[in-house]
Amino acid sequence: MKLEEAKKRVLELHDEINEHNHRYYVLDDPAISDAEYDRLMRELMALEEKFPELKTPDSPTQRVGGEPLPFFEKVEHTTPMLSLGNAFDEQDLRDFDERVRKAAGRENVRYVCELKIDGLAVSVQYEDGRFVLGSTRGDGITGEDITQNLKTIRSLPLRINEPLSIEVRGEAYMPRRAFERLNRERAENGEPLFANPRNAAAGSLRQLDPKLAARRTLDLFVYEIGQLEGHTVQTHTEGLQFLEALGFKVNPARQTVESVEEMLAFIDKWGKNRPDLPYEIDGIVIKVDDLALRKQMGTTAKSPRWAIAYKFPAEEAVTRLLDITLNVGRTGVVTPTAVLEPVSLAGTTVQRASLHNEDLIREKDIRIHDYVVVKKAGDIIPEVVGVLTEKRTGEEKAFSMPERCPECDSGLVRLEGEVALRCINPKCPAQTREGIIHFVSRGAMNIEGLGEKVVTQLFNHGLVRSVADLYYLKKEDLLQLERMGEKSVQNLLDAIEESKKNSLERLLFGLGIRFVGAKGAKILAQHFKHMDALMEAGVEDLLALDEIGPKMADSVVTYMEKPEVRETISRLKEAGVNMEYKGPGADGEKAVSASPLAGKTVVITGTLQRMSRKEATELLESLGANVTGSVSKKTDLLVAGEKAGSKLDKAKKLDVTIWDEETLLSHLPEEVRV
Ligand code: IVH
Repeated sequence: MKLEEAKKRVLELHDEINEHNHRYYVLDDPAISDAEYDRLMRELMALEEKFPELKTPDSPTQRVGGEPLPFFEKVEHTTPMLSLGNAFDEQDLRDFDERVRKAAGRENVRYVCELKIDGLAVSVQYEDGRFVLGSTRGDGITGEDITQNLKTIRSLPLRINEPLSIEVRGEAYMPRRAFERLNRERAENGEPLFANPRNAAAGSLRQLDPKLAARRTLDLFVYEIGQLEGHTVQTHTEGLQFLEALGFKVNPARQTVESVEEMLAFIDKWGKNRPDLPYEIDGIVIKVDDLALRKQMGTTAKSPRWAIAYKFPAEEAVTRLLDITLNVGRTGVVTPTAVLEPVSLAGTTVQRASLHNEDLIREKDIRIHDYVVVKKAGDIIPEVVGVLTEKRTGEEKAFSMPERCPECDSGLVRLEGEVALRCINPKCPAQTREGIIHFVSRGAMNIEGLGEKVVTQLFNHGLVRSVADLYYLKKEDLLQLERMGEKSVQNLLDAIEESKKNSLERLLFGLGIRFVGAKGAKILAQHFKHMDALMEAGVEDLLALDEIGPKMADSVVTYMEKPEVRETISRLKEAGVNMEYKGPGADGEKAVSASPLAGKTVVITGTLQRMSRKEATELLESLGANVTGSVSKKTDLLVAGEKAGSKLDKAKKLDVTIWDEETLLSHLPEEVRV
């Protein structure tokens, strides 16, 4: 075939494949079989291989191209990407409607109701009809260039039906089924699970390697036109129809309404249908249809005055409490966990909920076999809200905390000023195991492929009794483990080997010295430079450092004096584990000053899982954030842990950005991650 002829065929194939993509991924109405589709793709790939000059960035073969990026480029948004004001009840909607009618100077105003997709806002830009740039919302003014990752979304057209320049905004999300599959895979690999589809989608979009992003199925609904040249539309309805005609996926579940009653009916309908949708929604967005009126009403600094988001209340479900089990954590704290009859809640199946401590169980009078109401706090971590006492049969059993450690049988103690019960046996196997899990975790030695499951297996087989044992594992030891083939064993050994190079602060943090969080470890490493120097240090040497108080100083010195600790450290050294501080900037580590949190006013509320509130405060401050105690208009960000209460409500009212712990973690620079 000659080049001319090939070119013609390549263009035909582009059109044909684009059309089938559109039918399959946007319209959900395929016209050909998968086999036929594959044949077209193969034909195109073969031609592109033979004539590389015909391979263009908008070719359907180029959805998963590209090499891993070193970082995401910043993108300045053409117009700010705003968020929406919230409505929580009928009155909030009536107030909104009144404001709009007042601005319009007439009684009848038309609105469009849409589903509020629980994903991430993105912007996509086309020039001459070709997809050229995709970005995250970021702080609303500047986002990050995620073009490569957005290309992997099959319903996003790489070319639209008119050669226009247009910017479109929408929500990228992970469908429920893809989310469940991803978490199943992660559980099998012993990797931490994503709390919800939104976090999973965020994680995927922030993958630097587009090949990894492509393995996670994301989708995109577009909902607004940002900028448009050479075409005018008068209403939002028209705009959405135009977007559909260009080939975008617009959510068909939308409706024009003219009264608050109709809004409420739409809200009620979709509130009920919510569990049956293949993706998660967290509310309903109500927007003024008339674009001239929108323009007249304008925006506040944070959100347009012409739209509002009605937020669904947190989903609750009733289920049976089958049992209460006990977990012993790394520091010996024993926490009760509710084992539940599996129940579907806000898109995931819930089988466990934290009960925090005995006081809470007593306060709520929770008994085994009770029917309980569970809800997800901030739609994330399940908790037991209360008991349906009217359903009691008399068979329910009251629960009390044991007096002895469920793992090692030594006596539990309640330390002064704490609600928690602790096992203080330093040889308690549960603590050792949890300590190893912490050692290998992302913020510490970051050994990939070595999650909770594998560590537990290693521990149960007696292969690893202390963190130093990890560095003496042999291939034949690992091959004994379940689901461990040659390849995964080799990968694991490589990852362990790689971790030997880590800078000192990771090792220090990983050792799990009481009161030494990620930040403390960093300070110690920066100052003492070498493990040997720290091991020699006395309390005064430590107290000489500004950031170190008596509690941490004492803890470090006591820890370093223990013979078993000295033994572990010398075995780590012998195995070749690095004991030196390598410093920021070394090994490609990013400098902290680049943090997006610098200069932001942040409030932390609720209980965090991976660090204490104090540690989180220190961490945020080390990134230049100003951490304050109460939520106000000046607050830029609320970090909400489990059981967040009134501060969370206030932040929602004030439309403050809210992050859960996982989102916070994903925003931390690599070197301080916990
Ligand atoms: S309109 C200028 N429509 O909700 C306002 N937003 O805080 C543009 N969202 O950041 C947003 N579904 O990420 C709009 N149908 C929808 C939406 C939607 C989800 C998200 C969006 C926005 C947030 C509001």
